Amino acid sequence: MNPSPVGLDLPILLDAAKIDARISELAATISNDYRGKSPHLVGVLKGAWVFMADLVRKISIHCTVDFLSIQSYGADTVSSGEVKITKDLDVSIEGRDVLVVEDILDTGRTYSYLQEVLGAHDPASLKLVTLLDKHSRRSIPVEADYVGFEIPDVFVVGYGLDFDQKYRNLADIRHIPSPQTLFSFDKPE
Ligand code: IMP
Ligand code: MG
Repeated sequence: MNPSPVGLDLPILLDAAKIDARISELAATISNDYRGKSPHLVGVLKGAWVFMADLVRKISIHCTVDFLSIQSYGADTVSSGEVKITKDLDVSIEGRDVLVVEDILDTGRTYSYLQEVLGAHDPASLKLVTLLDKHSRRSIPVEADYVGFEIPDVFVVGYGLDFDQKYRNLADIRHIPSPQTLFSFDKPE
């Protein structure tokens, strides 16, 4: 018999159907805005990979994809404040219409850093689509060009987002009432 699914005891913030419907809207807007162009989508691993997979399948114009990997959080629910690239892009973005794909925009440190690093490679344009925006947490004044949902200051997991590398596989986006709760979930019975 299969074990019972993990994470179902965490409260749902956004269910899979709502996420799917919003991504359809985002993809339609992006397809329209980039009409006649071929945007280069740069997914920020690992959090954005589930969102990006769903988003590209709803985009109706030619686009290309690449990924980079960033480390900004450890096994904690608060930002370490440190950002570093651990996997760089595979192809040049010079002259390309780059659309960075993020799971969540929180303090803005990651995207501000990416704007600087990617901007130095002379893309034709540089924009950001983020599924979630914790706008109230911003410490650096950056804005996303496309936002799926603005959410309150709660720690969320699922749909690619993790806590200590876990819960990325949940279909819904759920929130963690307090980190202590989570640690108790992880304890063996
Ligand atoms: P920022 O640099 O503070 O904007 O943080 C962006 C990154 O922090 C995101 O790409 C996530 O990887 C991570 N992050 C921020 N808030 C959450 C959350 O609530 N759950 C999971 N990861 C988060
Ligand atoms: Mg991330």
